[in-house]
Amino acid sequence: MDISFNPIQSIDKAMRLLFKNDAELSQQFTNSFDPIIRAADPKFADFQANGILPLAKKNRLNPVQLANDVCKKLLDSQAIDSSLFEISVAGPGFINFKLKAAYLSRWLENFSSTKAIQQETSQWLNKEVTVIDFPSANTAKQAHIGHLRPMVIGESIARILEFSGASIIRDNHIGDWGTNFGTLIMILKEKGIHVTDFTNPAEALELIDSLYKEGTKLENNNPELRNVSRNELLKLQNGDTENTYIWQSIIDVSNQAFEKLFEQLDVKIDYTLGESFYKDKVSRVYDELSSLEIAEESDGALVVWHNEIKKFAKDNKRPFPFNIRKKDGASNYASTDLATILYRIEHFKAKSVIYLTDSRQQDHFEQLFLTTKKWFQKKDYPLPKLKHVWWGTILGIDNKPIKTKSGESIKLQSLLDEAIERALKVVREKNPELPLDEQNEIAKAVGIGALKYVDLSSNRTQDYVFDWDRMLSFDGNTAPYLLYVIARINSIFRKAELNLSDSSLSNYFEVQSLYEIQLARKLIQFPITLNQTLSDLRPHFLSTYLFDLAGVFNNFYNNEKVIDSNPSIQQRRLSLCHRTHTVLSTGLKLLGITTVERM
Ligand code: ARG
Repeated sequence: MDISFNPIQSIDKAMRLLFKNDAELSQQFTNSFDPIIRAADPKFADFQANGILPLAKKNRLNPVQLANDVCKKLLDSQAIDSSLFEISVAGPGFINFKLKAAYLSRWLENFSSTKAIQQETSQWLNKEVTVIDFPSANTAKQAHIGHLRPMVIGESIARILEFSGASIIRDNHIGDWGTNFGTLIMILKEKGIHVTDFTNPAEALELIDSLYKEGTKLENNNPELRNVSRNELLKLQNGDTENTYIWQSIIDVSNQAFEKLFEQLDVKIDYTLGESFYKDKVSRVYDELSSLEIAEESDGALVVWHNEIKKFAKDNKRPFPFNIRKKDGASNYASTDLATILYRIEHFKAKSVIYLTDSRQQDHFEQLFLTTKKWFQKKDYPLPKLKHVWWGTILGIDNKPIKTKSGESIKLQSLLDEAIERALKVVREKNPELPLDEQNEIAKAVGIGALKYVDLSSNRTQDYVFDWDRMLSFDGNTAPYLLYVIARINSIFRKAELNLSDSSLSNYFEVQSLYEIQLARKLIQFPITLNQTLSDLRPHFLSTYLFDLAGVFNNFYNNEKVIDSNPSIQQRRLSLCHRTHTVLSTGLKLLGITTVERM
C-alpha cells in the first residue's frame, strides 16, 4: 500500500478493489459499492467508512456482521496494510481506520515541504482555466468597508484554487457604465471643474464621491437638471469626445485609488474588463437569444422567462422575468453579464467562472446561470461551471450593519489605517526592544492579517460582528494567535541554532510519544481540509483547521521538551516543529495572510 497524500484515497481504493476482486463480495453485490470515507471523531479514529450500513440495509443483511466480514477480508487479503492502519468495526456497522505511527512517520517524510505538498494538490484541478470575477466594485465611488469582503474572500479563493492546480484568471469586472455618469458629468460642467486638475487619485475620488451626492441633490430640487444629466449620459453612450474624456478620467482615478488598496491588501488582478468593455458586444446577445427563442419582447423590453424559478412576481402568475434589454433599448447589468460569459468562454477558454458578490445578488446569478444554460444548450456550446460565491453582512457590536458614529459607511482606507495603528500599539507593548522598522512591518502584517482573518474565519454566508479587541487578541481564533505560533517556532529554531531550511529536517523520523502522535495526526488532516475548503469555496474550513492545529501544537510544545540533551529526540521534535511551520505558513498564505519572523 502506498502512503497517499490524502489517506482517504488509499482507503477508498482498497475497499473498492476488495469488493471487485473478492469472489464472494463481487458475486453478492454486483452493483458498484461506495465506501463513503470521512474524517472520524479523533477520539476514536482518523477515518470512518460509512458505506457498509446502507449496503447491508439494501440487501437485508446484518450491518455489523457485514462490517466484520469486510474488516477481516481487508486484512486477510492485505488490501489494508496492518502495519499502517488499525481497523475496527464501530457503532451500527461503520469501519474505523486509525493511522499507525508508521503511516504518520512516512507521510511526514513524503510531504515535508510546501513544494512537496503542492506537487500533490496541483493535480487536483488539472489546469482547469477558471475566471474569478472579483472584487468588481462600481467605479466613481470611494471604497468602504463593504469592499473588504470581495477583496479578502476573492484573493483567498483565487490562491486556494491556484494551489489546487487551476489556471486562474483574475478578472475585475468593474461597474463603469452606470447611469451615475450622467449626473457626474452634469455637475462637473455645472461647477466648471476640470478633470485635468485631478492629481491625487484618493483625493479626487473623494471629491467625485461628494460631487455625485451634490449632483443628485440638485437634480431633486431642479428636475430640469435631470434632463441635462440624461442628455450627458446619452452623449457619453454615443461616443461624444468630451464626455468620453471626462468619463475615462474618472475611471482612471477610481482604478488608481483601488490599486493602492489592492497593494496594501496584497490582492492581485490580471484584467480589469468592466461593463463598458462589453458595450459593443451586447447586440450579439440580443440577436442570439431572440433568434433561439429564449428571449422575447415584453412591454418593449427584451426578457427571458424562467418558469422553473418559484419566486413569483406580485400578480402571482409568473416568476420575475430576467430583463436583458431596457425599454429604451439600453443595455443593463444582465446584458453585459451575458456578453461577459461569452467573452470568457471564447477569449479566455474558461471552463469555470466564479463570481463574488454579496448575498443580495443571488437572484441575478440564478437567472444568469439558467439563461446561459438554455442558451449554450441550444447553440451547442460547452457549458462552463458557473458558481456564485456570496456572503453576509459585516455587523457592528450592536448587531446592525456597521456604520460610523454619524451613520455613514466606514472608508476602507481608514479601516486599514486603524488596523495597523492598533496593531502597532500591541506590538510596541509586547516587543519594545525591536527596532522601529521591524515594529512597523509586524504591525502591518498583524493589523491587515487580523482584518482579513476575521473575515475569513466565519462561514462566509453568515453575517459577522466586527470587534477590534477580539480580532487583535492573542488568544482565540485570531490572526495574531496563529502568527504568534509561527514566530514561536522560529524562535525555537534560533535557540537550536538550526535553519528551518536545513536538509536534515526532511529526513525520516518515527513519531513516538502521545503528543507527537497527536500532532502528526492533525498535520496529515491538511489535504482533507484543503479538499473540504475547495469543494464549496469556504475558507473558514481552512482557518478553523489552522486554529486547531495551532492548539495541538501548543499542547505538544507545553508537554514535550523540544530542545533536549538526547540528539535523536531533539531532531525528531524539531522536525515536527518544522512540519507544523510548513503547514501553518502554507495555510496562512492561502488565506492571503503575511507571516512575520518574530513578534
Ligand atoms: N459591480 C457589481 C457590484 O458592485 C458586482 C459585479 C459582479 N460581477 C458580475 N459579473 N456581475 O455590485
